[in-house]
Formats: sequence, structure tokens, C-alpha cells
Amino acid sequence: MNNRILIVDDEKDMLTLLDRIISEDTHYVGVTESHPEKALELFREEDFDVVMTDLKMPGMSGITLMEKIREIRPDVSVIILTAYATIETAVEATQKGADDYLTKPFRRERLLVTLDKAMKWQGIIRENRRLRKALQKMNDLSIIGSTPAMIKMFDRIRQVAPTSGTVLITGPSGTGKELVARAIHQNSGRRSKKLVTINCSAIMENMIESELFGHVKGAFTGAVTDKKGLVEEANGGTLFLDEIGDLKPGLQTRILRLLQEGEYRSVGSVITKKADLRFIAATNKNLEQAIREKTFREDLFYRLNVIRLEMPPLKNRAEDIPLLSYHFLNKHSGLNGKQIKGIAPSALQALAAREFPGNVRELENIIERGIIFCSDDTLTLSDLGLSVPAECLLPELNEGKNMMSFKDAKEETIRLFHEHYIRVLLKENAGNISKAAKIAGIQRQYLHRLMKESHIEPNEFRGTPT
Ligand SMILES: Nc1ncnc2c1ncn2[C@@H]1O[C@H](COP(=O)(O)OP(=O)(O)OP(=O)(O)O)[C@@H](O)[C@H]1O
Ligand SMILES: [Mg+2]
Repeated sequence: MNNRILIVDDEKDMLTLLDRIISEDTHYVGVTESHPEKALELFREEDFDVVMTDLKMPGMSGITLMEKIREIRPDVSVIILTAYATIETAVEATQKGADDYLTKPFRRERLLVTLDKAMKWQGIIRENRRLRKALQKMNDLSIIGSTPAMIKMFDRIRQVAPTSGTVLITGPSGTGKELVARAIHQNSGRRSKKLVTINCSAIMENMIESELFGHVKGAFTGAVTDKKGLVEEANGGTLFLDEIGDLKPGLQTRILRLLQEGEYRSVGSVITKKADLRFIAATNKNLEQAIREKTFREDLFYRLNVIRLEMPPLKNRAEDIPLLSYHFLNKHSGLNGKQIKGIAPSALQALAAREFPGNVRELENIIERGIIFCSDDTLTLSDLGLSVPAECLLPELNEGKNMMSFKDAKEETIRLFHEHYIRVLLKENAGNISKAAKIAGIQRQYLHRLMKESHIEPNEFRGTPT
């Protein structure tokens, strides 16, 4: 579908000029209309990505038109056209929600850049909508993924969840093993009972009996009351043995016995109790290698390795990165009280191309940090603390009909560089212009000018954490 622009101006010459530039220099489709009321009708009936409207028109002002249009579609991009004399009103228009403004007479390049920016924003909104819809359709397992490896994993989880078979989940750190353990429990007949997690790397050797099985009053010094152990707490539910690969050899024997016998006795008690448990274990260690190195008991391994689920590293499912990124954007923008609409395509592109040794957890951390630093309504590369790859700095400059002249491409790249540099600079200096100018080694006045050119408000960064 071609991107469509509705152009509204009572001056017919202006409409003709804008329409000509759009058809000559872009692949967008321009539709012109000189009456704001008729334009509104048209907007109701047809799809437009961007509306460009004059500010002063008989019958209805550009601002009123914008407000009415936004009632129909709140996220349409609106660009206000105005004569130079009324630039204050144009600024006011952006404060009232216009995405941008153009002062007449305008330079052709300026118009094209403004339109490209608006279209790119519409692209973000569309991608945002698509991914949000995909997230809504996401499965009941609360695990995000749409790559073949993950779909296969979801099928396996659904198959094994209703059984009581012991599950061993392996895979690198941060790949979602704990999430899978929870999904299995939640989709089993044991969901109304507890999922109790034992962190095997943290458990103390001398306390294991009492931790697992509880104790009766007076069993040892300090046992002033009866205490339930984790096994009893999990009774009827699931016992999740996390980080099983870190379990000390002495404790391995104890866990093996629990797995084999299912019976236990609280410390200091003479009564044997039977535990009704489903076991799930997880580790990022290579247990087969640990067996060869004699640090992990082979018999325990075979007891655990009944149903094996191997979580793939994120690099084997990089196509899931955009979906996961949006999932974490939803999750954390809510938590941080921020309204962030989307992720810039260049940022998504950079994320998808990046390595994540810490897998999904690392991606989540990057998005969460980005949200904290984001001062706009879109997460950008600089919010995410990622460097800008050259191809991201040159957005669509080299695509088909849009191929710019060398001069224009250079100007546009410099403009992007200015904007990016200044945003990072001001963010780092919490909006302190004198300090920022000093660090950048430029005059304050020059910094002000650059900010104005990039539509960057000094207030935007005041008080931003550095
Ligand atoms: N597919 C996924 N969809 C949504 N969130 C995910 C996914 N995978 C991981 N996460 C999130 O990433 C974080 C790390 O996941 P989790 O704790 O399950 O990893 P792990 O494999 O147990 O790591 P470790 O080996 O370090 O314990 C969690 O916040 C989890 O919610
Ligand atoms: Mg874990």
C-alpha cells in the first residue's frame, strides 16, 4: 500500500505545488482539498497516514481540523503549514499535538525530510500495532516466541504439562528456563497447588534436611517450634529444583533419595510421610560433561532426565527479538509509569543484529534501562545505549525512487547526526546547556541554534538522570 497524504490549504497554488513535489520526488500519494470541512469528510472515508494542513483557512482553522481528525484517528501524523509571520502559532500547534510544522515558503528538501519523518513515525505505529496484535494472540503459556524453535517448544510444553513426568530444562543463562517451569506447572492439574522453588546453588549443606523436610519442635538447638519443609509446602504441587547443576555432591545424594522414594521424615520426627510431587529441574550447566568430570552423579542425572527440554539461545531465534522487545516495552513501561508508543525501526534493527550473551534476560534489561532513559514517546538507539550503525544513520536514503542526490544525502545525514548527538549530549548533562556546550567544545549560541533546527526543547532533558 502506498503511503497517502491529505493536503489541505485554501490556496490552490500551494496545493498544486505540494502535490507536484510529492508526485515527483516521493512514492507517496498526495490528495488535495481546499475546504477543511470536505477534507474532514474525505478523512472519514479514506485512509491517510499523514495530514498536512494550512493553519489559517476560512471556515475552520488548521488546529480545529487537526483536533477533529485526531478524534477519528488519534495516531495520524499532522503537519501544520504556516506563513513565516505566524511561527509562534505553529509552535503552539506542535504543543497542541501537531507532529511537525513547515513555514511557507519552504525548501523542497525540508518538505521531503518532514514527510519522511512523519511516514517513518507512521511505520513505527503500524509495526507497533502489528506486534501488539501478535502479542495479544500469543499463547496461554505467557512465553513469547514465534520462531519454529519456540513453537516446537510450546508444543512440547503442552504435551508434558498434564503428565507427572520429571522434566529437566537445560539451556544457557537467561533463555527462559524458569518461565518454562512455571508454564508447565500452570498447565498441569497441579496448578491450584504451589510451585515451590529450591535454589540448589544457595542451599546450605547442614540445613538441607530441615529446609526440605522441616523439623519438629526441639529437634535441635533453635528449633523452638514445628516447621514445615519445602517438600511439604509443595505437596500436591510442583517442586522446582533450580540450578541443579550447582548442587553439592553430598546434597545430590539426598535429592536422589527424595526422587527415588518420595518419602520423608521431618527432622526429629518418627513419622514417615509420603510426598506427592512433580519434579522439574533446570540448569545452565552441561550435566553430561559434569558427569564425565565426576562432579554430578550419573544416577541423579538419569532420574531427572526423563523429559528433556533444551532452551535455544536467543541467537538461534533472533527473529523473535522485535516481538520480545515489544513485550518488554509493554511490561516495563507500565511498571515505570511511562507512555512509550513504540521502538524506532533503527533501534529494532540494531537489536536484531546484536549478540546477546545474556540471552532474553539481557534484552529485557536493555529495554528496561532504555525506558528509564527515554524522554520521548519512542525508544531510540541512544535510549538503548546502542551505537548507531552507518546504515541506520542513512535511513532509506538509497531506496529506489527515494535515492537522494549526494548533497541531499549528506545534508540529511548531518541533520540526523546533529539531532542524535545533541539528544545524547543533553541527556548526559541533564539539559544543562552551558555544561553541554563546554563538553562538546562548541559555543552556547551554536548549540542553541542546532537545538532549534532539530526541534529539541531545552526543557526536555532537565532533571534527566545522568
Ligand atoms: N520467551 C520469553 N518470553 C517472555 N519473557 C522471557 C522469555 N524468555 C525469558 N524471558 C524473561 O527473561 C528473564 C530471564 O528468564 P529466566 O529467569 O526464565 O531465565 P533462565 O533460563 O532461568 O536463566 P538462568 O539460567 O540465568 O537462571 C525473565 O524475566 C523472563 O521473564
Ligand atoms: Mg533461572
